[in-house]
Amino acid sequence: MNSFAFYNLKGGVGKTTSTINLAFLAAKEGLKTLVWDLDPQGAASFYLGVKSVVKNESKKILKDTIDLQSAIQASPYENLSIIPADLSARQADILLNEQKQSKKRIATLIASLRGKYDVVIIDSPPGISLLHDNIFNAVKWILIPNIPTTLSIRSYDTLIQYFKDEELDKQKIRCFFSMVDSRKNLHSDTIHFFFKNTQFFKSYIPYLSEVEKMGVNEAPLETFAKNSYAAQCYRDLWKEIKKCCF
Ligand SMILES: Nc1ncnc2c1ncn2[C@@H]1O[C@H](COP(=O)(O)OP(=O)(O)OP(=O)(O)O)[C@@H](O)[C@H]1O
Ligand SMILES: [Mg+2]
Repeated sequence: MNSFAFYNLKGGVGKTTSTINLAFLAAKEGLKTLVWDLDPQGAASFYLGVKSVVKNESKKILKDTIDLQSAIQASPYENLSIIPADLSARQADILLNEQKQSKKRIATLIASLRGKYDVVIIDSPPGISLLHDNIFNAVKWILIPNIPTTLSIRSYDTLIQYFKDEELDKQKIRCFFSMVDSRKNLHSDTIHFFFKNTQFFKSYIPYLSEVEKMGVNEAPLETFAKNSYAAQCYRDLWKEIKKCCF
C-alpha cells in the first residue's frame, strides 16, 4: 500500500484540488484508492459528494470510539472511497494529544488499512501542529503544492528546517508548482530557480479556470473537462508521481 499526503504550511495552494484529481486518476487506473479528508473544511468530501453519516465522526475516529473502516464511504467513482471530514476535525490536535503515542496515532490507523487499499491519500489542512506531525509520520510521501511566490517558497524553507530540527525524514518530501501564472516574471523566475532541485517535479499546474469549475461541478476535472489543458497537466503530474513514488 502506498500513501501520500498533500500538505503545505500555507493555505489555498491547491492541496485539495490535487488530492481529488490525482486520487481520481489513481482510481481510474484500477488502483483501489482511499482519500482521507482530515481538514475540517471538508472540501475533499464536498468534491466527492460525500458527507459523514455519524455526528462528529472525525472526532470519533481520532478518539478511537468508532472504527476507521466503518467511516469509509464509496464515492460516485469506481475504486475511489473516502473518509469524509466534518467540523469536529478541528479538534484533532487536542484529541491526538490525549492519546498514547500521540505523534503516531494516524500512522497506526493507516496501517490498519494495509491490504485493503493500493493508495491512501490524505488531504491535509494548512498549518503545522501535532496533527501534521502525525501526517508526516503516517505517509510514505508528502506532496507539497507551491505557488511560485516569495511567501510560498518561504513556507517550503520553513518546513525543510522543521524536518531537520525534528529529525523527520525529508526524503519523503516532493514538491510541485501549482496555480502558476507564466505571464508573471516572479512565477517563471521562481520555477527556473528550482529547476535543478530534485525534490521538485518538473510538471506543474497552471492557474486555469477549468480547475476552479471543480467547485461548480463538485467533481474531479477528468469527469467534466477531460480534454482540457488543466486535466492534461494533472495527468502529466500523476505520471511523474508514479515514476518517482511507486
Ligand atoms: N490550478 C488552479 N487554477 C485555478 N484555480 C485553482 C487552481 N488550483 C486551485 N484553485 C482554486 O483555488 C482555491 C484553493 O484551492 P484548494 O482548495 O485546492 O487549496 P488548498 O491548499 O486545499 O486550500 P486550504 O489550505 O484552504 O485547504 C479553490 O477555489 C480552487 O478551486
Ligand atoms: Mg484544502
